[in-house]
Amino acid sequence: MKTIIYQCMEEINKKIEENKEFLTELDGAIGDADHGINMTRGFNEVVKQLPQEEEDISVVLKKTGMVLLSKVGGASGPLYGTAFLKAAGAVQGATTLDGQQIADMLEAALNGIKYRGKATVGEKTMVDAIEPAYIAFKESQEQGKSIGEGLDIICEEARKAVEYTKTIRATKGRASYLGDRSIGHQDPGATSFLIICEAVNSLYKSMMK
Ligand SMILES: Nc1ncnc2c1ncn2[C@@H]1O[C@H](COP(=O)(O)OP(=O)(O)OP(=O)(O)O)[C@@H](O)[C@H]1O
Ligand SMILES: [Mg+2]
Repeated sequence: MKTIIYQCMEEINKKIEENKEFLTELDGAIGDADHGINMTRGFNEVVKQLPQEEEDISVVLKKTGMVLLSKVGGASGPLYGTAFLKAAGAVQGATTLDGQQIADMLEAALNGIKYRGKATVGEKTMVDAIEPAYIAFKESQEQGKSIGEGLDIICEEARKAVEYTKTIRATKGRASYLGDRSIGHQDPGATSFLIICEAVNSLYKSMMK
């Protein structure tokens, strides 16, 4: 039987693949038109290489991070790779996850990305989506909301963040070379984070039915 965490990666792979052209077009406007290609290559390989029945979630997340680090070039491979490795470190040995553990994973992933890429909120990167999504999810769990409600909140925050990235100038990554001309375009990395969140949320909701 495929584990839930494996099915998550399959769903992410499917949604990323469906959005390959879209992500590449977004990156074409302000970068080098490879974000959809990079992400698709990475998650295709993740799904191929991951053990389908491994119960230890941290083992699966760690392997995901290592595959992304080794298979995806550019900025997003090392950044997403680090995120999954750090998320793994936050839930060592876990075979199930509660809201607190999901918040811990998001926090570790965010800090890993910020440490590696040195970006903060407002620089038109994936950090613009991940940070508010993490904060809102953590608050939702402190208020006693369910994981399902928390995942809806993450998607809502990430959606708002993607819109927000249209309004600002890039100061990190290749898009920063464009200066003010980057304004008006949404950030590809923030968009791929939204797609990942939507994939996880839709899988979760389909399992809860
Ligand atoms: N320093 C950084 N910190 C966080 N995210 C970043 C950083 N640099 C780039 N990104 C994210 O990576 C995305 C681009 O990923 P892509 O797969 O296209 O890699 P790339 O072409 O090497 O990136 P880039 O052209 O931005 O250096 C951006 O949309 C942004 O969200
Ligand atoms: Mg690119």
